[in-house]
Amino acid sequence: MNKHLRENTELWDSAVDGLGAAPKWLASKWFYDKTGSELFEQITELPEYYPTRTELSILRGATATLAAHMPDDTALVELGSGASVKTKILLDAIPQITTYTPLDISEAFLAETAKGLQTDYPDLQISPVACDFMSDVSFPDALKGRAKVGFFPGSTLGNLNPRNAIDLLQRARNWPDVRSFVLGIDLVKETDRLLRAYDDVQGVTAAFNMNLLARLNSELGADFDLDAFAHEARWNAEDARIEMHLVSQAGQTVTLGQHSFDFASGESIHTENSHKYTPDSIGAIIGKAGWHMAEFLTDDADDFAVCLLTPQ
Ligand code: AVJ
Repeated sequence: MNKHLRENTELWDSAVDGLGAAPKWLASKWFYDKTGSELFEQITELPEYYPTRTELSILRGATATLAAHMPDDTALVELGSGASVKTKILLDAIPQITTYTPLDISEAFLAETAKGLQTDYPDLQISPVACDFMSDVSFPDALKGRAKVGFFPGSTLGNLNPRNAIDLLQRARNWPDVRSFVLGIDLVKETDRLLRAYDDVQGVTAAFNMNLLARLNSELGADFDLDAFAHEARWNAEDARIEMHLVSQAGQTVTLGQHSFDFASGESIHTENSHKYTPDSIGAIIGKAGWHMAEFLTDDADDFAVCLLTPQ
């Protein structure tokens, strides 16, 4: 048996599951290997991809407003370990934040984040928690009784369907001593602009999407012919989401170990959902999760929103 087959059981099971389903799908969390993470960084700088730069400018202008919802000695709990420029905007401007707690599945990634941040912020207490933030988080003793503020930027919430988005926000609502939650979300806008943001002229997003197939080939020994699939971004109006697909350009069969998967010409693998929100749609989600919309901060064009949630 191919040695790759044993190495990454979870990727394997997920691929067999998704490629065997109708319609076919692959989970978007698999985008982010080293190559994929680098491609995503490039996406955030594309002229067509407005979310990152818009959120940054909203955050920079909103620190005083956000700070008003953070008590002394706050632990900032970030879903995913950014250590990014977004986190630093809050750390630089809000002295009440004395602890940073990134939540991430990867211990290695958390260690890297902690190391990088500690150099720039020697007085910051860094208490990472290795966990899947879709499940219950168990905080270390060092955070007992400490005020907590959630941070979930980037419209990463948009990868989840509304049911799972509510579930995630509800779990955060139940963190002990949670005081507020800073949530970045992308907003519904003209379809053309949305499509361009997910199908840039340079083809970086296409490469990001195709990298999934490259991973299945290199890590699992699959035999996808990358030239026989094409990247496609679609606007699903009913569910208010951008979908990314990999569309088979011909009838073909792909093998993965003992499994084989038949593709009709034009058949797609659905690889990502990126939900876009309106004030009403996000209001309904946060309300069902037990939160109140204390602030809804947008850019002048209403492209993106930073929401400050407080417990109902
Ligand atoms: C990181 C999930 C927020 O949905 O916009 C970017 C990922 N996919 N271009 C998004 C992504 C294609 C991004 N999120």
